Amino acid sequence: MAAGRSALGAILVFLCLVMETGAASVTVIKPIRTTGQEIGLIFFKDISVPGTYYNQTARAIQNASDFRVWAALIDDYKYGIKTRERMPFYIHLATLELSAAGMASGVYVGVAHGWAAHYIRRHVGDRFGIRALILLGATMNPLQLLHKSKVPVLTLAAELDGVFRISMLAKEYEEVATDNSRLFKGIYRTPVICIEGANHYQLGIGTDWTEINEGKDLRPEITDEQARSLIAKHSHDFLTVTFGTSNQNRIASLKELADSFLKSAAKFQPFIDMKNLDMSTDQKKSTWTILAQKLVAKEYIDRVTVSNEQVGNPWFFMKKPGVTANGTLVNLETFSLVHIPYISDGDYDTGLQPEGPQEVNMKLVANEAIGKAFSGKNNTALISEPVSCKSLNRYALYLALAMSSEEARDRYISRGRRIIFEEDRLVLGNVLWAPMSFQTWEDEAGLHVKSVGVINKDQHYCKVLSLLRAMEWVNIDSLRVFPTDW
Ligand SMILES: *[C@@H]1O[C@H](CO)[C@@H](O)[C@H](O)[C@H]1NC(C)=O
Ligand SMILES: *[C@@H]1O[C@H](CO)[C@@H](O)[C@H](O)[C@H]1NC(C)=O
Ligand SMILES: *[C@@H]1O[C@H](CO)[C@@H](O)[C@H](O)[C@H]1NC(C)=O
Ligand SMILES: *[C@@H]1O[C@H](CO)[C@@H](O)[C@H](O)[C@H]1NC(C)=O
Repeated sequence: MAAGRSALGAILVFLCLVMETGAASVTVIKPIRTTGQEIGLIFFKDISVPGTYYNQTARAIQNASDFRVWAALIDDYKYGIKTRERMPFYIHLATLELSAAGMASGVYVGVAHGWAAHYIRRHVGDRFGIRALILLGATMNPLQLLHKSKVPVLTLAAELDGVFRISMLAKEYEEVATDNSRLFKGIYRTPVICIEGANHYQLGIGTDWTEINEGKDLRPEITDEQARSLIAKHSHDFLTVTFGTSNQNRIASLKELADSFLKSAAKFQPFIDMKNLDMSTDQKKSTWTILAQKLVAKEYIDRVTVSNEQVGNPWFFMKKPGVTANGTLVNLETFSLVHIPYISDGDYDTGLQPEGPQEVNMKLVANEAIGKAFSGKNNTALISEPVSCKSLNRYALYLALAMSSEEARDRYISRGRRIIFEEDRLVLGNVLWAPMSFQTWEDEAGLHVKSVGVINKDQHYCKVLSLLRAMEWVNIDSLRVFPTDW
C-alpha cells in the first residue's frame, strides 16, 4: 500500500513537472558503434540555443570515441532559477529516454555549454548518475572549485570566447597548474584546455553570426569543423582516461591530455600573470604599484627600493606613503587598494563583466620627495614634470601588449578598438581623491580611460587601469563589434 502510494506520488510529481515545464523534450542520438562499453552523454544547452543544435558536436564525439556513445540533447529549458531547480528532472528524463532507446549501462556524462554549467553543478555524482562533466566554454567558478568537484571535469576554453572570457577560465587553469601537490591528479581528473582561435558558440553549436554582430561573441579564426574535431579529440581522451579499461589506451590518452594542458599555458598564463601583478594571490601586495612607483621615481629608479602593502578600506584611506633614506638608497613604502567588483551568485553577465579589477588605487611617493630624501634639501631647480597617472595607464597597455601572444597583438593592431588616454583629473588631497573613481567609457573609437590623481611635492596618488583589465581589452573586448547589444 505504502509502496503503491509513493509510486503514485512519484508519477504525480512527474506529471506536474511535465506540465509546468511545458514541452520539455529530449532528442536521443543513437550510437554509431554496435559494440563496446556504453557511455551516455547528456547535453545541457546554453541559454537561448535550441538543444537539438548540439547534434553535430554529439556526432563528432561519437565518431572520435572508441566507446559506444549515446547522446541525449535536452531542449526547451529557459534561463532562470527554476531551471536550476528542475535540473534533476531533466536529467531523469534524459536517462529514461536513453534507456527507452536501448542504452543498457548507467554511465552518464554531462556536457554543459556556457551557462548550463551553473545549473548542473549541484546535480552530479552517484545520486544523479552523472559520473563526469565536460564543460564547453563554461566554468562553475567561483561557486565550485575544480579540485572540490565530486566528479572528473574536462574544461574546454575558447581563446576568442566573448561570453565566458578566457581570463575567467584562466583561473581554472591556475587552480590546476599552480598546485604542485595536486598537479598530476589535476591534469588527470580536471584538465583545462584552450582551443585556439575558437569562439563561444563554436564550443557548442557552431558560429552564431548574430551573436558576433551584436558584439556578444568574437569572430572565430578556425572553422566550425576544426572546432568540433578538437572538442571531439579532447573529449575522447578525457573519456578514455576516466572510463577506459585498457591501461595502454588510458596512458596514451593521458599523455595527449597532458600535452594539450601544458600547451595551453601559452594562452592562459599571461592572464594569470597580469592578475597576479595587479595583486598577489594572498592579496597582500600589488607588484603593479611597485612598478608604477619606479616609473614615478624616474632618474632615481636604480637608487630606490620599493615595498608595497595592499590594504582594504578604511585603512587605505588613512595610509600615507613613506620615504626613508637608507645609506646610498632610499626606501619607498607604497600602499594600494585593488578594487574588484562584487560578483553575486550567478546572476551577473560574464561577457559584460571583466575579470580584471575596476581600478588600482596607488599611494606613491612623489619624485620630488625622493630627490629631497637624497639631498636632504629642497632642490626646486632640478624638478622635472611629474609622471602623470595617464602615463601609468599607457604603461599598462604597453605591458598588456608585451604579454599578449603575437597573434593577439596582430589582431589588436589590425582590428582592435584603441584605448584612449584622457587627461588626469587632479584633485587637491586624499579627502577629495578617496571617493572618486577611475573612469572608463566606450564609444566607437574605443575605451576611454581617465585617472584621478593627487600630485604634489610629497604625494603621488593615482587611480589607474588594472593590468588584467588592459590585457582583457587587448585580447577580448577591443575585438567586439560596437555598439554591443547586451
Ligand atoms: C543540427 O545542428 C545544426 C546546427 O549545428 C542545426 O542547424 C540543425 O538544425 C540540427 N539538426 C537537427 C535535426 O536538429
Ligand atoms: C570521423 O573520424 C574520422 C577519423 O577517425 C575522420 O576522418 C572523420 O572526418 C570523422 N567524421 C566526422 C563526421 O566527424
Ligand atoms: C636599508 O636597506 C637594506 C637593503 O635594501 C634593507 O635590508 C634594510 O632593511 C633597510 N633599512 C631600513 C631601516 O629600511
Ligand atoms: C622644503 O620646503 C618646504 C616647504 O615647501 C619647507 O617647509 C621645508 O622646510 C624645506 N626644507 C628644506 C630642507 O629646505
